[in-house]
Order: sequence, then C-alpha cells, then structure tokens
Amino acid sequence: MPETRKILVTSALPYANGPIHLGHLVEYIQTDIWARFQRLRGHECIYVCADDAHGTPIMLRAQQDGITPEQLIEKIGQEHREDFADFHIAFDNYYSTHSEENRELSETIYRRLRDGGHITTRTITQAYDPEKEMFLPDRFIKGTCPKCGAEDQYGDNCEVCGSTYDPTELINPRSVVSGATPVEKDSEQYFFKLGDFQDWLLKWLDSGHTQSEIANKQKEWFEQGLQDWDISRNAPYWGFEIPDAPGKYFYVWLDAPIGYMASFKNLCEKTGRDFDEFWAADSKAELVHFIGKDIARFHTLFWPAVLYGAGFRTPTAVWCHGFLTVDGQKMSKSRGTFIMARTYLEYLNPEYLRYYFAAKLGDGIDDIDLNLEDFSARVNSDLVGKVVNIASRCAGFINKRFDGNLSEQISEPKLYEEFVAASDSIANKYEAREYSHAMREIMGLADRANQYIDEHKPWVLIKQAGEEKTVHDVCSTGLNLFRVLITYLKPVLPKLAADAEAFLNADELNWNSICTPLVAHKINPFKPLMTRVEQDKIDAMTEASKDNLAAVENDKTISGPLADDPISEEINFDDFAKIDLRIAKIIKAEHVEGADKLLQLTLDIGGENRNVFAGIKSAYHPEDLEGKLTVMVANLAPRKMRFGLSEGMVLAAGPGGKDLFILNPDEGAQPGMRVK
Ligand code: MSP
Ligand code: ZN
Repeated sequence: MPETRKILVTSALPYANGPIHLGHLVEYIQTDIWARFQRLRGHECIYVCADDAHGTPIMLRAQQDGITPEQLIEKIGQEHREDFADFHIAFDNYYSTHSEENRELSETIYRRLRDGGHITTRTITQAYDPEKEMFLPDRFIKGTCPKCGAEDQYGDNCEVCGSTYDPTELINPRSVVSGATPVEKDSEQYFFKLGDFQDWLLKWLDSGHTQSEIANKQKEWFEQGLQDWDISRNAPYWGFEIPDAPGKYFYVWLDAPIGYMASFKNLCEKTGRDFDEFWAADSKAELVHFIGKDIARFHTLFWPAVLYGAGFRTPTAVWCHGFLTVDGQKMSKSRGTFIMARTYLEYLNPEYLRYYFAAKLGDGIDDIDLNLEDFSARVNSDLVGKVVNIASRCAGFINKRFDGNLSEQISEPKLYEEFVAASDSIANKYEAREYSHAMREIMGLADRANQYIDEHKPWVLIKQAGEEKTVHDVCSTGLNLFRVLITYLKPVLPKLAADAEAFLNADELNWNSICTPLVAHKINPFKPLMTRVEQDKIDAMTEASKDNLAAVENDKTISGPLADDPISEEINFDDFAKIDLRIAKIIKAEHVEGADKLLQLTLDIGGENRNVFAGIKSAYHPEDLEGKLTVMVANLAPRKMRFGLSEGMVLAAGPGGKDLFILNPDEGAQPGMRVK
C-alpha cells in the first residue's frame, strides 16, 4: 500500500470583474481532474481557490457600474461559484482575496520581508491623471507608439511593432479613464528586492518545480540581474493598505497568491485542520499550483521568493497550461466563439466539455483548440458510442431475463484482468497530467469491451435454445468491464460515474474497488446515461455568444482593461455613404428579461417601426427614453439575438457605464429624416 500523500492544489484566482468563459475552464477542469484523481487513489487532496478581488480594473469597473467594489465582487463571486459548481469543479473552499485572513497573511508576509531587509523604498516618477486624480497603470494610458508611430497603443507595449517601452515615451498620451493628458508625478514606492533571492531562485528553477520551457523563459530575467519588484500603489486604490505606510496599498499581485493561503486558512477555521502542516517551512505536504502560461512569472519568480523570504514553504510544483482557441482562432465575440460558462451550460452538458478538454490536454504549454465539429464527433463516438453503449447493450438482458442479477463469476477472467492491469499505466498518465494519453488508453479498452460483446452477440444467442447461461455471462462480464472503465473516467466524468454507481447498485467506485468484480449482485434498471451532442444546440450556443456585448469587455483575452477599442480598419467614402442614418423617435423602451446591459427599444422612423436592442441600460432608465429622438443606423442587416430580432442600431457615445449618451438631435428633427 503506497503512503498516503497530503496535497494542497490550487488554480489561479479569476479576476472578479468578468464572467468565467471556456478559456478559464481549461484550467479549472485540468486542476479538478487531477485533484479528483488523487482522491480516488486514496490520497488526501485539498483543492482551494478564490476570486481575485483587488486592483484598479475592479475599482474602475465598480465606478462605471455605479456600485461599490464590495458590491461588485460579491455579485461576480456568486456568479463564479455557480458556474464552477455547475461544471462539477469540486473545490474544498472557494474564497475571496478581499478577506480578513488575506489581510493578516499579507501583512505578516510583508513585515517578515521588511524585517529580513528585503523591502526598500524609492521615489519614482509615474503617469498621473490630473482630472481623475489618480496614478495610471500602464494599461490605462494610450497613445502613439514611439518606435513605429502606430496610433492608439497601450502604455507598455505596441501591438503593431511589438516593442516595449515606458508609458512616458508615448507620443500624445491620454488617460483611458478620463481622456486627460497624463502628467508625470513623483511618489515614494515600496519594492521587494527580488535580487536577494537570485541564487536560490536559479536553483529552484532548475529543480523540476515547473516545466523546463517555463524555467528557461524565466532565466532570461536573470541576464541583466533581477530587478526590484514594485509592490505598492498609491491611493486611490482598491486593496489592502500597507502597514505603517498610510496612503500606500499592496499591488494586487502581492496579495493575490497569498489568497491561496488565505482560502486554505479559512478552510482550516471551518474544519479544524492544521494550517502549518501545509505552510510551515518544513511542511511535508505537497503544494501544487495550476496556472496559465501568461502568469508564469508571478508564480515562478515572485511567489516562490516571497514565500521563501517570509519563512514559509515554497511550491512543490507550478504547472502551466496553454491558451484556449476556438476553431483555430483567438476567442472572438463577433464569431460567437467567446463562449461564457453560463451560455455553454444553457445548451450543453458540462461533462462533454470536461471530456473534450481531457482528450486534448497534455503536460505542456501548447494552446488547446476547441474545434466544435471535432467536439461533437469525439464526444458522440467515445462517450456515447463506446463507453455508455457497453452498458446499454448488456443491461437490458440482465434486467429483463435475469431479474437484474449478475452471474456468479466473471466468465472471461483474462479479459477482466487485462482491464485491471491497465490501472497503473492509466494512473501514471493522470499523475503526469497526460490526460489525452490516459483517455486514449481508456478508449482502447472500451473498444476491446465492445469487440467482446460483438464476438458473442448476446442478441443472437438469446434466441437460441440452451444459450441462456452464455448470454448471462457475456452481459455480466460486459457490465463489469464497463464498471472498470467508469472508474478510470471518474475524475473526468463525476456525474456520469455517480449515475453509473446508482445503476450498478454498488459502493462508490475508487481505484481499488475494481480488483473485486461485481458477481452474484443485483443491479438497478438502466436509464440512458448520456445523450449525443446535438448540432442545433451548438449552433444556438454560438448564436447566443454573439450578443455577450459589454459583459466580456473587461476580459484580457479580448481587450485591455476598458472597452477602448482601437480605431477600426479604414473605409472609403462609398462605404460611408452606404450607411443610412435616420432620426428615430423612441416610442417604447423596456427592460429585457435576463439581460444585464440591454434595453429593448421600439423606434419610429417615419411611418415604420423598428425593434432594436441597445446596450445602454447602465446609463438610462427606460422611462427617461420614451418620447426622445435619437439617431439610428436604419439599413443594418437585422441580427438574431438571444432575446429576439434587432433591426438596426442606435448611436451612442461615451466611456461606458453611467457615462453613455444616446445622440439627441435637435427639436426640429422629424422621425425618418436622413442624417448626413
Ligand atoms: N487574477 C489573475 C490570477 C491570480 S493567481 C494568484 C488572473 N486572472 S484571470 O481571470 O485573468 O485568469 C485566471 C486563469 O485563467 C489564469 O491562469 C489564466 O491563464 C487562465 N485563462 C484565462 N483565459 C484563458 C484562456 N483563454 N485560455 C486558457 N486559460 C486562460 O490571471
Ligand atoms: Zn509600434
């Protein structure tokens, strides 16, 4: 019997300013499969996570929505929990970085680093928005690239020529928040002296704690010596104030990973578990982080050094994965491939996606493509056509002919042994995060089981005199093989496994239970365990994803921190002339059930009425709009949205949220008049 391991597993903490989408789910599904696998093997595996609730984007988003940051993170946190639960992500605790535990731990860590001489202060010059009276993070400044002259580039790098620079180098810089020209302003900041840990970190990176591609990438930072890391931000900032430093706050990336500890601490308070057993410098437990490759630097340089410097244990492993693409391209709102977790759940079974990701995931950092055709083909052929099919082929005979009783022994012991013997190899693949290889091996076994049934053809034998016993044996063996396969798939398909356990009327399956087959055992009537993926559901999901609108504008997969899209591709005068702008009178404005951002407008454009959905709910009450004149694009092709047909678009301007203004023509205008 191998020793029981104690493992604390985490996934990165999602930002509390936007919805969970299928890209995020790559990570939470990958982690959840690993944690469930460990538990199935009898190890103690605790999986914690939390919302990442601090930082400038969350502060500004709350302002835009006219609510407090507390209200925003509460609302989003609730949505995140529901999304994860519905995808069967089994956290032992899901918390928030905006918690007392996190404040205390962040302060403790900071004090220990300071007392150890690893904090220094320095006055630096940063961009400041004189109108909004706040310092601006690089992503909140845009301007012309100093290297290539491309317009509308972010303050830290140019998406056109790829160069990186300081925001002060931008030509014609402006604040994304207010539009004002940023000024330079001095202030004192607190730095973590990462260089103090240079030798220790190099050794850590070379010791197999992360993938070698990731380790090598980090080593590039050592070339000019490790720079100090700025861990402070000036007020106004949404976060924790730094002890003994009034008006200075911890940068969100300082307290975010400490959120792993805080979520675990909160679990300890609820369950009486021992915090130090997992976090003391000499802890024997394993600490395993799953993250996306975009945040590797925070987890493989800053985080281990912070923990080490503060006298805590350091991570056993930081495993990175690649990014999700859909049909070979970056997720996109206009193609309907920016699919939110909730939208998916409205149309499809979450276990389809769990299986599909498992079938694609390896231990590397390559991007993972969700090809929607391949998705249905794989799920239909593997899960429905192979695995579930074994049970449906055998169960009917056992239930109808043998009163639900399985035979006294396994009639094909060699085949059964073969299935059990695969257990080590499959376990090694799960352990090494080679899920795609594990799925391939399991599906190979499923093929063997189906072959076995095909060879004996119980549906033919049942009609022949004296073959009853063979049918009983073949179907009983078939169901036992099915039971082994379900055990192997249980980390990926927990719901299917629970339904199969109920059908088999046996104890919960775990990695050892397969050694004892079910013989002379009564099963329950069979109910279909999984249905095929239907193409019309996929189409409907894609369609519904096209009107996600503002809900996703904060996501880094799509854009920067605010919805400040760069100027679109140039059009010529003829293109412009095609746009038919008309004065419209808003004769009715109503709320749309289930839509956060949309209002439904009935517009009179001079004898003709149009139905239009407009994303202006954050700025207008319906009753304020009725009777007003506005300008609309009258010849836009109608678009089917989740809520109905939208026949045009009204023009509005402004940064968003409460500050969004529909265009208000002069009193003298008449509905239907052309605007040019
Ligand atoms: N809040 C930080 C993490 C702090 S951890 C102490 C963050 N949040 S995030 O919401 O942007 O991303 C959460 C995780 O989801 C990250 O590991 C990120 O890599 C992953 N993904 C976000 N979009 C993704 C895809 N499109 N594809 C795959 N993973 C993606 O970063
Ligand atoms: Zn450039």
